[in-house]
Amino acid sequence: MVSNAMLASQLDTSDEWITTRTGISQRHVVDPGTSTSDLAVEAGRRAIDNADVETIDYVVLATTTPDRICPATAPEVASRLGLGHVPAFDISAVCSGFLYGVQMARALISGNLARAVMVIGAESFSTLLDPCDRTTRPIFGDGAGAVIFRAGRSDECGALLAVNLHSDGALADLIAVDGGGARARSAGRHDPAYIRMRGRSTFIQAIKHMEEVTLRTLDEVGWKVDEVDHLVGHQANQRILLSLAKHLGLPEEAAVINIREVGNTAAASIPLALDYGVRTGRIARGHKIVMPAFGAGATWGAAVLTWPDLKRAEA
Ligand code: UT7
Repeated sequence: MVSNAMLASQLDTSDEWITTRTGISQRHVVDPGTSTSDLAVEAGRRAIDNADVETIDYVVLATTTPDRICPATAPEVASRLGLGHVPAFDISAVCSGFLYGVQMARALISGNLARAVMVIGAESFSTLLDPCDRTTRPIFGDGAGAVIFRAGRSDECGALLAVNLHSDGALADLIAVDGGGARARSAGRHDPAYIRMRGRSTFIQAIKHMEEVTLRTLDEVGWKVDEVDHLVGHQANQRILLSLAKHLGLPEEAAVINIREVGNTAAASIPLALDYGVRTGRIARGHKIVMPAFGAGATWGAAVLTWPDLKRAEA
């Protein structure tokens, strides 16, 4: 765990700046040698313990920080979870990665290609942070969360009712890691693989797109805004989440916010927030949930579901 005070002792920043601008008090970073697959396996194990499924047919891992450039990390995760030779692949959609994974699960199940799909969001995002960059290091953190989707009826608790996804590559420069990519390498450049973010422009785009896609997705399933119990959005910034709630006409309390404890964990952020909402007793069976995200790419989207009846194994 890295507190704001610890960062303020190393960077030109302060607890006051980080807390008021982002809502973040602390974030977690992996121990030396620990990587994304280790976090993903742990999250996957806990999801299996909590889920009412006999087999898992696919593993979809959303991550910005795969263990290696090649191969994908998901096959190793599936193998370490003891899932045999199931298809397993990574998705690279950064902070929207979990929603992209959810859409894959939905497509595989509704297309009768799978009965149950594990979607994991896992990040060792700290490995992309320039230790000297005060504009990124206080924001991002490491973590993992996993959700298992299974075939079922749309009137059951736990039904995933709609997912909408988008991208706009013209905004690719908002948030990027250039070093380590093929474009830099083919040009003979060996830049460090650090993330850079145009924070203010991203902030504006994030609210605009998440508001639009959330309203459209709610409309698609016939839910009025005031029927929504929880807004479980990508935890990029507490101010974004509160402003989004306000734009949508939702009370602040509807926003499930755990950014204070974990920072922005990119693809892991929505499943971690779901887990937080359940552990703190806010999210319960049958509650109506909308999950919007916006991130690098640019990519964005929203999903709506009702919360299932889960047996809960101890973490
Ligand atoms: O997860 C993917 C999507 N990501 C997002 O949605 C992130 C969206 N953006 C944000 O959350 C916010 O833009 C940030 C938290 C990244 C930045 O907050 P901001 O209120 O937009 O600050 P800013 O970038 O406009 O910077 C304001 C000032 C600047 O100083 P001047 O030019 O006003 O003198 C920065 O240099 O704050 C300065 N600053 C800092 N000061 C202390 C920037 N970072 C820091 C820092 N500590 N860590």
